[in-house]
Amino acid sequence: MNQDDLKRAAARAALAELVPDTLVGVGSGSTVNFFIEALGEQAARFAGAVSSSERSTERLRAAGVRVFDLNEAVLAGMARPVYVDGADEIDPGRRMIKGGGGALTREKIVAGAFDRFVCIVDASKQVETLGRFPLPIEVIPMARELVAARARLLGGSPVLREGFVTDNGNQILDVAGLAISDPVALEEQIDHWPGVVTVGLFARAPASVVLVATAQGVRRVSAPG
Ligand code: A5P
Repeated sequence: MNQDDLKRAAARAALAELVPDTLVGVGSGSTVNFFIEALGEQAARFAGAVSSSERSTERLRAAGVRVFDLNEAVLAGMARPVYVDGADEIDPGRRMIKGGGGALTREKIVAGAFDRFVCIVDASKQVETLGRFPLPIEVIPMARELVAARARLLGGSPVLREGFVTDNGNQILDVAGLAISDPVALEEQIDHWPGVVTVGLFARAPASVVLVATAQGVRRVSAPG
């Protein structure tokens, strides 16, 4: 099994987590692309999707899935039980680093608008401690160097993602070398720096369920209780 086979297996397993006739929250990235493909095959079973990026929106429409604007869905009081997304890293507490594809802000917004976060990953994304993957931070361009300086004070090495503009018109700093011993505290801290739009730590609201694809099959890990 290659990595794409594993991503596809995790993505397809997420179909069993969905609630018929409701909206599905859809993340971004290569693993989610397999999920969109699977969702398209069963589009009639669901009310539609709320998307976390322009790229996912395009793919959802091409797959025959109706895409709702989040504001419209909230105003209409549509049920929003399950959000499905990948991760760049996930730890045993189901806390994640996300934003490798640059969609972290909309991902955090849409994830927070749904009751449960189902994270689909292959086993290579599992880590004991977050931080091997450089932490993405979406910044307002005029604050970039101030945020970079603060990241250096924490021991990180920030690098501007060259030639990349987010769906919100901002820039991304990828911060390598951070020792993330307390992901919740670090998320709180960085979120408060002026000019930070979103930090790619998803720790205050960890995944509810993780579907980990391995060569032996898809393992389901869920929050206790
Ligand atoms: C997109 O901005 C990210 O948060 C993705 O969810 C994450 O990078 C995982 O992507 P892959 O499924 O492509 O590894």
